[in-house]
Amino acid sequence: MCIMLRIGRKESMRLITGEEDRPLAGQIAEQYGFLLDKEAAEGELYLSVKDGVLYLTDGDLSMCGDFNRILGRTQKGRLAGELLVKAAKRKAFGERATAVDATAGLGEDAFLLAAAGFAVQLYESDPVIAALLADALRRAAADETMAGIASRMTLYFGDSIKAMKEMAEKPDVILLDPMFPERHKSALIKKKFQLLQQLEKPCGEEKELFDAAVSAGAHRILVKRPLKGPVLAGQKPDYSLNGKAIRYDCYIFP
Ligand SMILES: C[S@@+](CC[C@H](N)C(=O)[O-])C[C@H]1O[C@@H](n2cnc3c(N)ncnc32)[C@H](O)[C@@H]1O
Repeated sequence: MCIMLRIGRKESMRLITGEEDRPLAGQIAEQYGFLLDKEAAEGELYLSVKDGVLYLTDGDLSMCGDFNRILGRTQKGRLAGELLVKAAKRKAFGERATAVDATAGLGEDAFLLAAAGFAVQLYESDPVIAALLADALRRAAADETMAGIASRMTLYFGDSIKAMKEMAEKPDVILLDPMFPERHKSALIKKKFQLLQQLEKPCGEEKELFDAAVSAGAHRILVKRPLKGPVLAGQKPDYSLNGKAIRYDCYIFP
């Protein structure tokens, strides 16, 4: 795994840590522009480093990036059945298949693509989410069950719209999963993930995102949508793969 950081939006979210984790916390605070501190105010949403793991917390609930949550879905026999893996068609692109996840979030979809054999570039523009993802990737790289997959994932902290417009090499596949407004209301979302949703804003740049993906020259653009949600930026897909709660709209380019 290699992590390259670009200058992106900085926020002075507080990062609280004790003495033992201070070196790691200091490094993260420096990279993402967080304010290193000893304690947070009541009810405040803040970051904390504990026992070498970066958490987002409100003092009550806490969550971290963690690929163990989906490791089971990468096992032989299960991975090929994943809707995203079916939509991405890795075998059509050979052993050196490449993918861009332009809206990486906590990187779970990218992890599935990397498990399927893609070398994946992940873009995340929110500093808190990028820091949680970088931390999950760092721990995955040190875990022998995940290191192989993590080694095919490269995180870029920054805006994928700009990056895709300037992409020197055409990726085989681009995945777009911008935040969809209705997800805020979903009762299915686990409580601790609601912490993350306080940071994620519905995407206001759907057309720019789609146009930038087209300009990057990928063979396939995959858009993850709620099952009944409208298509992205009014663009009709070539076909869709439907799951129980979500679908992938697939756009094919020669
Ligand atoms: C719904 S989440 C993606 C979840 C992801 N598919 C996963 O498996 O964890 C959307 C993410 O895209 C990020 N995002 C939205 N627009 C972006 C852009 N132009 N460049 C980089 N990241 C972006 C948001 O900050 C948010 O974290």
